[in-house]
Amino acid sequence: MQSPDILLGVNIDHSATLRQARYRDHALDRGKMVEPDPVEIALHAQRAGADAITMHLREDRRHMQDSDLRLLRQMVQVPINLEMACTEEMIAIALDVKPEVVLLVPEGRNEVTTEGGLDIIGNQAAITDAVARLADAGISTSLFIDPDPAQIAASVATGCAYVELHTGAYANAFYETAAEAATELERLRDAAVRAHEGGLKVNAGHGINYVNIREVRHLPHLHEMNIGHSIMCRALYTGITEAVREMKALMNGQLR
Ligand code: PXP
Repeated sequence: MQSPDILLGVNIDHSATLRQARYRDHALDRGKMVEPDPVEIALHAQRAGADAITMHLREDRRHMQDSDLRLLRQMVQVPINLEMACTEEMIAIALDVKPEVVLLVPEGRNEVTTEGGLDIIGNQAAITDAVARLADAGISTSLFIDPDPAQIAASVATGCAYVELHTGAYANAFYETAAEAATELERLRDAAVRAHEGGLKVNAGHGINYVNIREVRHLPHLHEMNIGHSIMCRALYTGITEAVREMKALMNGQLR
């Protein structure tokens, strides 16, 4: 039997990073003069086959802005994954805007990008509460975690619908030796099986590119992968449409 396609969530944050590099103080008040427009990028990604659009509304608003999220909500038809910290401010925004999925991540001001997985064990009560409040509003929750059996068990206990396995250690190991990459891949494989057995849908993301996707796509039970940086970089050369199409084809073994 043919396995179902792995879905592609396109993370558009870095189109906003580029905008903010020039228009930090004027991202919102210079109308169509402000480029690039992350919502426009999302619409192109959707037309090219993106199954979901992912954006991270950071507490410091370093790239995506609140107005981007609200416009995205109005404009895109595919599900929105709203990546955010588990704070009262962010939960209130999610309950108001109602993305299909909230992806809870840890957040640090000094990090370049999300660095580690969320510590579910250390924040069990707060995360379980957030999952329940979001579920009451019809929003599914995904927890971004390291491929660690204890964190998976704790995730299952929160009542969340998804985990997103952090593929960053694997992606870094890919630049080292084949043996190191294989070790990290095995951790991801084991984690995917455990999460699936716990009744969770299994997503993955971070550091996935046009090379390592050929290997990581073989992980069991993969429902969706969230990919940002490599797609936005590729889009500079080929355009966003081609960048999304190529990643989607690679993910599902339709390109070698
Ligand atoms: N998933 C999560 C939880 C992330 O924080 C990020 C980075 O924003 C991604 C996926 C996408 O990672 P990358 O930009 O390396 O593809």
